[in-house]
Amino acid sequence: MDQHVEVSIEGRLLLPTGITDGCIGMTEGRIVAIKKILEGESHYTLSNHLVVPAAVDMHVHFRQPGDPRKGTFATESMAAAFGGVTAVADMPNNQPPTTDPRSWKAKLEEVSGTSSVDFALYMGLGKGLDVHYLGIATGLFKLYIASSTGDLLIREKDRWVQAMASALEAGGHVVVHAEDQASIEAAKPTGEELEWHHAHRPPLGEAGAVEQVGKVANTTGVAGHAHVAHVSCKEALDALGDYGMSAEVAPHHLFLDMRREDLGAKGKVNPPLRTDLDRAELWSALADGRIPIVASDHAPHTQEEKAQSFPDAPSGMPGVETMVPLLMTEVKNGRISLGRIVNAVSVRPAAYLELAPRGLKVGNEAHVAVYDPKGARRIDEDKLHHHCGWSPYNGMDAIFPRLVISPTGVLVEEGEFQQSRPKGRYVGVTLEDIVALDKGGNSLTPSS
Ligand code: DOR
Ligand code: ZN
Repeated sequence: MDQHVEVSIEGRLLLPTGITDGCIGMTEGRIVAIKKILEGESHYTLSNHLVVPAAVDMHVHFRQPGDPRKGTFATESMAAAFGGVTAVADMPNNQPPTTDPRSWKAKLEEVSGTSSVDFALYMGLGKGLDVHYLGIATGLFKLYIASSTGDLLIREKDRWVQAMASALEAGGHVVVHAEDQASIEAAKPTGEELEWHHAHRPPLGEAGAVEQVGKVANTTGVAGHAHVAHVSCKEALDALGDYGMSAEVAPHHLFLDMRREDLGAKGKVNPPLRTDLDRAELWSALADGRIPIVASDHAPHTQEEKAQSFPDAPSGMPGVETMVPLLMTEVKNGRISLGRIVNAVSVRPAAYLELAPRGLKVGNEAHVAVYDPKGARRIDEDKLHHHCGWSPYNGMDAIFPRLVISPTGVLVEEGEFQQSRPKGRYVGVTLEDIVALDKGGNSLTPSS
């Protein structure tokens, strides 16, 4: 007897073997059939539409706890869904920062039940870190070796080296903000605003930081569990070298550069927007796999904050909803292959985070998004769903998904959100691991 199929989609399926016209069937959150003809209880005929795995955004700042004026899990996760993203990993530079098991657990409790997409949470390798508790920690860590939004910089090299190495050796994954604090403090920048910011946080400093991180990763035997966030320039790309680390590029470094002075402080981000030549290098590194992953670094700030003078305005820009839609236009324009993009936004980040595998394959969880290759439209920042109400990509062409499905059901259809309450699941390390962490004695009273 044929398998019962709740939802089926007919279209151009991106299977692991290539693109095939056919149908995909889903039941109870899993892909249960892939066939030429299939009719589920509810059936979508979307011929000539691309049916692909939905995306995993492994670098977002949803601002909860701390600053609901910028965003919350409720608002930003919905924006993610509208952009074809069904899972995110959220950064720890909150207020208070989630740099110990107690604050981490409080965050998990606060945001649980409020996210429309699946989520994991990083713990910060923070300032007052007691590295001993890492001996029993698995999971996701974020390390800042240069200052940025939040106060998570670990200034002393011997401390971050020890923290990073012990987290990796304990089975953790460490995502690093790799810029060089000494170059930032020594810089005497000049020029217009974005050019000034670029000179203030120079490419050679970023490259030097990547190299230092690579050397530490290399001493651990699990270099692939170290991940360089937002590689922004050719120098940093070259420094990735042969260390075997994972790495990501952010959409703003692919689509924007420092010639966009019209953005003013909205274009201020760390690492900074770089040159058009850097942008070209990043595209080629993404195409040939030297950079395996694209992640948004969705970092919303309010319009009021961004309206301050350039030096006073905070760094960061929203991007979770526009990441895949912008990339899909470049697939349509022939700049990069669909397979490469789906790898970079879905298969690879899921593998890095150790989530359920992505890909249109019977048995996999149902994370599916459908795009009309002819459906490009101009981004209108007023119509996006994240809370801060502006986008640096306003007016640029994007292909938004017509249908987004997660294991919890249909999330978005024809621009309408479909679920009556947030059903996103926590998909990070098990709670037992964190409870074990919590029992790590003095880990709850970090040394200063
Ligand atoms: O520009 C940035 N903004 N870079 C970061 O590292 C943090 C982020 C934020 O949280 O605002
Ligand atoms: Zn970030």
